[in-house]
Amino acid sequence: MITPVLLCGGSGTRLWPLSRKSYPKQFSPLIGDESLFQASARRLAGDGYAAPVVVTADAFRFIVTEQLAEAGIAPGAVLIEPAGRDTAPAVLAAALHLFASDPDGVMLVAPSDHVIPDTAAFNATVQAALPAVRDGRLVTFGISPDRPETGYGYLELAAAPTDDLTPLPLKAFVEKPDAETAQGMLDEGRYLWNAGIFLFSVRAIVAAYRSFAPDMVTAVQGALDGAQSDLGFTRLAADHWDAAPAISIDYAVMEKADNLSVVPFAGRWSDLGDWAAVWRETQDGGLSLSGPATALDCDNTLLRSEVEGQAIVGIGLTDIVAIAMPDAVLIAHKDRTQDVKQAVAALKQKK
Ligand code: GDD
Ligand code: MG
Repeated sequence: MITPVLLCGGSGTRLWPLSRKSYPKQFSPLIGDESLFQASARRLAGDGYAAPVVVTADAFRFIVTEQLAEAGIAPGAVLIEPAGRDTAPAVLAAALHLFASDPDGVMLVAPSDHVIPDTAAFNATVQAALPAVRDGRLVTFGISPDRPETGYGYLELAAAPTDDLTPLPLKAFVEKPDAETAQGMLDEGRYLWNAGIFLFSVRAIVAAYRSFAPDMVTAVQGALDGAQSDLGFTRLAADHWDAAPAISIDYAVMEKADNLSVVPFAGRWSDLGDWAAVWRETQDGGLSLSGPATALDCDNTLLRSEVEGQAIVGIGLTDIVAIAMPDAVLIAHKDRTQDVKQAVAALKQKK
């Protein structure tokens, strides 16, 4: 059995004003009727999967249990982080939690901001990775890049990948390159995007953290040892947790480890990281319209009204995203949607 570890503690600021600190993107139905978190949980709820371990923030604990119940999924554990420390401590908390009962178990780390429509293809790819996991490898899944994206990690292979699902050894892992490096890697043809989904044995990942982040292991083990059970939630102890640095697993472990393998995933995959990504996933003939939205002579444009009965109208627009919420409206060039993060930070300072 594989234990899914669902990460859903991020705040998704680049999808402001739909994504809010109190109700971030992963819990909203950005595409279709289900939230991205529900879709991720459901993808990993079939045969061969144990009950998931969810790692999240205090503010989201009831959203998590409500949305899982709605999807008919009972969590194995819900670990509550006293504060967001990015993904490295979150994954380690799940790994050490599982280590106590089954150190040789296998865990699948899954973010909750992805769109992966073909569940069967995805699960076949996960199965193909299991032999490498049994050999103690840390497996990541690779996506063929189609643009010089700077928001992803890149996986360097020894040779250009083929279509088969044999795990390939990784030469190097490059997290979030600058634009020039990203373009170079795209031109090379030997690089895949890191899907941000990882499969490994509990023992292998704990060993990697012990090598590359021993102090984090001490902090997170302390936070688990001092954890309190509260209404079925496992609250990690803040005094120890606070000693863990805020860093992603990509920087803390994956860029450093020398036992990584890659399994290419050929199905459709997208990280709904910003509004340009939402446009790409939802556009039809260049337009993405949601709510009472009307476009006249618009190209490559997203118009979205989240206010019942409030129309949004675009005329003669090209490469624009506009999102209307009851208390905020965002209008941005489609190439600048990564910068929403800075705009939100600036708004916070003004308050
Ligand atoms: N529990 C918890 N705590 N979850 C967190 C935290 C945290 O402090 N921070 C982020 N997460 C969750 C997010 O909600 C998301 O589901 C997942 O962890 C990944 O975090 P992101 O912040 O979305 O990462 P990213 O997209 O910038 O980069 C990662 O994913 C890319 C592909 O989507 C990296 O792994 C890249 O290498 C990769 O290409
Ligand atoms: Mg992401």
